[in-house]
Amino acid sequence: MMRELFESRFGSSQGARLVTAPGRVNLIGEHTDYNLLPVFPMALQFGIRILFRPRGDASVRLASTAPGFGDRSFELQTEIQPYAAGDWGNYVKAAAQAVAEHWNLKRGMDAVVSGDLPMSAGLSSSSAMVVASALALLDVDRVAADRIELAELMAAAEHYVGTHGGGMDQAICLGGKRGHAALIEFAPLRITPVAVPEHWRFLVAHSMVKANKSAGAREHYNQCVADCRSAAAIMGDFRTLVGAANEEDVLAQGQARLEDRLFHRFRHQVSEGRRVYLARDAMAAGDAKRFGSLMLASHRSMRDDYLISCPEVDQLVDTAMTSGAIGARMTGAGFGGFVVALTDAANVDSLIRRLDQRFYAARGVSGVMAGHLFQVEPSGGAAVSLA
Ligand code: GLA
Repeated sequence: MMRELFESRFGSSQGARLVTAPGRVNLIGEHTDYNLLPVFPMALQFGIRILFRPRGDASVRLASTAPGFGDRSFELQTEIQPYAAGDWGNYVKAAAQAVAEHWNLKRGMDAVVSGDLPMSAGLSSSSAMVVASALALLDVDRVAADRIELAELMAAAEHYVGTHGGGMDQAICLGGKRGHAALIEFAPLRITPVAVPEHWRFLVAHSMVKANKSAGAREHYNQCVADCRSAAAIMGDFRTLVGAANEEDVLAQGQARLEDRLFHRFRHQVSEGRRVYLARDAMAAGDAKRFGSLMLASHRSMRDDYLISCPEVDQLVDTAMTSGAIGARMTGAGFGGFVVALTDAANVDSLIRRLDQRFYAARGVSGVMAGHLFQVEPSGGAAVSLA
């Protein structure tokens, strides 16, 4: 389908190349990356693909296989005017502007974009699109970029779309390793793979509440970032505070010095920052029960302190737990989207069946058939190959 679309828009696809960039599921460490606190995601077997062929000029011409994503075209240069907020082409422009500036690239491409990842759902389709676009444009000019440098650059580049995100999504998209989750630390960016125990299974389930980061949820997200800046201006560097020996003291100081809303934001940051390292240790030790209880604690913290969950998501987490999950939590930017649940190989089918019966049937759909409910596999990072 990509090739047919390519040929119908741009002529022969001979010599075209293909970039694949995975989405991700964040296992724990939510809304912590923009405070340079660690996160613990894994790359998915689903993502964004771009079939592309270099052009002789600086035009970037785009078509997409996704319904409603019309053709786009712009010039590769260091200052690119964005489309209207929320336009899909802005994710390509974000990458294009950054690579044009950083590597002085001048050669455009004809490209067809496709994906098998649910959009606006917390699985990072947007960063996969940014990273895929960057890799394609770098490949056009035969630039071999360092992945860590590229991940950092793309995290900053994505601010172009108006969300003040951290660096998790671009890092795991570029640095994912098959069979592994990754501890990601920032400033400097470090990606440390941790093997997912063989019998552990993660599945994701959509709350059926669409969290459109490029529309309303963007303001909520940016408000979280701004609140953390305000709290840090009073309390000092969050990283130092998370590393402090006595968490109770740190929280007591926060309670004394911060107004109520900022204190709750702060408490999530401090507790979640710690949970990431504890969860990494639990996975390394193969302790699923411990990992699951940290996921649940993370969910409660997002629900009660950070205020980024919603009733449908909470209900889905509860349903997962009463259906046999070892742990469950909302994943991604929040305000809807997906829940991630941990189970083991012996129970994964029954958990899927029960979630379908107990959550989705009541909403008149089959979660599995509708693509709302599926197992995720720890997968490798983005790559370019011959098409
Ligand atoms: C979005 C952002 C990330 C991160 C998550 C929440 O995916 O792009 O940087 O902040 O939300 O953990």
